[in-house]
Amino acid sequence: MTVTLKQLLNARVEVNQLNLRWLAGSNIQVDMLRLDQLHPQISGNKWYKLKGHLQQAERLGLSTLLSFGGAWSNHIHALAAAGKHLGFKTIGVIRGERPEKLSATLQDAEAWGMRLHFVSRADYRHKHTPEFQQRLLQQLRLPSDQVLIAPEGGSGDLGISGCEDILAAGNIDARDYQEIWLACGTGATLSGIARSASPDTQVRGVAVLKGADFLRDDIRHYSGGSLNNWVLETDYHCGGYGKVSPELLQTIDEFEQDTGIPLDQVYTGKMVNALKQKQAMLTANNIQRILLVHTGGLQGRRGIQH
Ligand SMILES: Cc1ncc(COP(=O)(O)O)c(C=O)c1O
Repeated sequence: MTVTLKQLLNARVEVNQLNLRWLAGSNIQVDMLRLDQLHPQISGNKWYKLKGHLQQAERLGLSTLLSFGGAWSNHIHALAAAGKHLGFKTIGVIRGERPEKLSATLQDAEAWGMRLHFVSRADYRHKHTPEFQQRLLQQLRLPSDQVLIAPEGGSGDLGISGCEDILAAGNIDARDYQEIWLACGTGATLSGIARSASPDTQVRGVAVLKGADFLRDDIRHYSGGSLNNWVLETDYHCGGYGKVSPELLQTIDEFEQDTGIPLDQVYTGKMVNALKQKQAMLTANNIQRILLVHTGGLQGRRGIQH
């Protein structure tokens, strides 16, 4: 099934009401915005972080998009799929040496026409610098006036602005919810949602990496410094980025049994696990209406299951 830019820009997704066993008998009603259902390959917050970059490339008449990521990157996966469907050439600059067997994510990306270029972890740290990017384009023999370089994860101003459209995908009026929850890696998605939500709705991000307190400064910066409608939870990372705990796996299992909605272990599972652990706080604060944002990432499950 191929898809056009216009169709993706106008795509709408469901909001599902959840019946969770651990909320039975409480006054808390939880809905989920199903960004995972946007498109089988270009889904979740990744589309919203990518779309501004794709529109910019189209506006400037650029044929090629280049971006950065790891072996299981949801961003690289979505970029490769978007390139295939929307007719852009794509280049994935991947952290680390090329392994003998590519991850399932990178196999998909290559099959969809993405050119993969592996760089050492030491070089990868310089990916933001103009010198590194210029050298890269020379190595790849790419004319700089044909290539749009998108930051890792699709972040940056274009990515954050794109995330301002996330709530509209479910025709959501943020004022219907006391809290909106989502998983945070860089905080870019949270910033876009907080900018577009009403000031009275608390946007609560669950950091999926350990030691993520530094993200608060980043989010303050991304969200224009003047927003007070967000908080970041930094105690629900289950040991660190990509790490899982038995409790997390049990929460995901129960959630899938109760709702039929799949979660990934890296992002959305940690959001739901945090919600479960903070139930007493929610009850104490008389929070009754919560929206969870399903940010997708389901392709990444393949990285953890074997
Ligand atoms: C599935 C999923 N959810 C949430 C996030 C977190 O997004 P952000 O880095 O904008 O905080 C990511 C990473 O981009 C992701 O892939």
